[in-house]
Amino acid sequence: RYFLSAESMASQPGDYAAVRKDIAAQLNKPGYDDGSAGPVFLRLAWHSAGTYDLETDTGGSNGAGMRYEAEGGDPANAGLQVARTFLEPVKERHPWITYADLWTLAGVVALKEMGGPDVKWLPGRTDYVDDSKLPPRGRLPDAEQGADHLRQIFYRMGFNDQEIVALSGAHNLGRGHMDRSGYDGPWVNNPTRFSNQFFKLLLNLEWKPRTLSNGLKQFSYSDPELPEDEKEEPLMMLPTDMVLASDPAFSPWVKKYADDKDLFFKDFAKAFGKLLELGIKRDEQGNVTNTDNVLGGYIS
Ligand code: HEM
Repeated sequence: RYFLSAESMASQPGDYAAVRKDIAAQLNKPGYDDGSAGPVFLRLAWHSAGTYDLETDTGGSNGAGMRYEAEGGDPANAGLQVARTFLEPVKERHPWITYADLWTLAGVVALKEMGGPDVKWLPGRTDYVDDSKLPPRGRLPDAEQGADHLRQIFYRMGFNDQEIVALSGAHNLGRGHMDRSGYDGPWVNNPTRFSNQFFKLLLNLEWKPRTLSNGLKQFSYSDPELPEDEKEEPLMMLPTDMVLASDPAFSPWVKKYADDKDLFFKDFAKAFGKLLELGIKRDEQGNVTNTDNVLGGYIS
């Protein structure tokens, strides 16, 4: 056993530390976006879990449904194929991990590597697809809409107003892509470093409405002090981001998180950990007890 190479050692079933290391090694992507796969990993984790509906106990990260057209082809998931492809070498080295665990863990590792907080993560999700648990399309939020829509989507998962604001702070990372969602640009100047800058900019900059060539509306900021030839890429906010600053129940949390990075990190970690657990049932030892997932369904 002492003669095994490091590579084959990495594949011991249950060695999540080895998987974490290999996910971290996938983050550095010179030439891709802002040089990191981190933001798109976080979005993959969120969209894998964010289809959950508390009332019917359907959707959620169990089953890794994005592998199939019904969920993977949802326009809301456009571009996440990139994240799944970046993670394929990790799956190849650790074939025992389920996709459902890999995608959620990738979000947790990416967040940490980009300077974010530790999020509690437990394994045990299954890749069995239970047809009776499949989420219909339309469960993920639509950035063109308002506060009622945000509440409808997030209350459905069991989140409250404070958690909606905390989770939205993920937009400190990454960017909108014209060929994915149709939105354009980053929210902050350093979009691969997790911080509470999103909230500060949301409150402090003068955001101007802008209609894109595809008809979508976003809000835009570029520094008026800079001469034309030194202008940086404009920053953006989605309509749903702006709502956080104007809604009377959301905005006090925006202010708190803008003022207190530690509070934001703590609340984000808690809410994100909760998101990744939606629909996963565990006993006191943390072992998954969803027996309905292993009846019927199919394996990839
Ligand atoms: C990106 C919408 C909540 C994490 C985006 C994009 C849109 C969007 C339109 C651009 C996608 C693209 O073009 O590539 C929304 C709406 C939300 C929401 C309407 C409702 C509140 C969240 C939450 C998280 C999150 C809860 C995570 C906890 C991200 C990340 C990106 C992103 C990290 C950047 C992805 C990249 O750079 O590839 N979001 N989002 N979002 N979202 Fe959200």
